[in-house]
Amino acid sequence: MNEIPPAVYSITIELDGQQHHFQCRENQTVLSAAEAAGVPVPSSCCAGVCTTCAAVIREGVVHQPDAMGVKDDLRKEGFALLCVSFPRAEVMAVAGQEDALYQAQFGQYQS
Ligand code: FES
Repeated sequence: MNEIPPAVYSITIELDGQQHHFQCRENQTVLSAAEAAGVPVPSSCCAGVCTTCAAVIREGVVHQPDAMGVKDDLRKEGFALLCVSFPRAEVMAVAGQEDALYQAQFGQYQS
């Protein structure tokens, strides 16, 4: 039996004003592909909890069923946790968005 090879998508990550391009398989997290390509995306827990790896998806789609650290409505706005995000299309995302995600989730509780 021939197995169908996983799809591979082109990823563009903007980090600190620089664009990085690399490939990511559909069964690989964007974070692990970034690390393999030498792109220094911030990360910590690598389990979808801490939000250190938060990004905003500008184009494309990711599948992130384990992104516990992001509310559903913010996922719809484009927030993603790259350590648990699997690409489902070519993706353009801005990484280093932990503070923006924190503000979006908890900003209304601060005075
Ligand atoms: S590294 Fe902790 S949520 Fe991604």
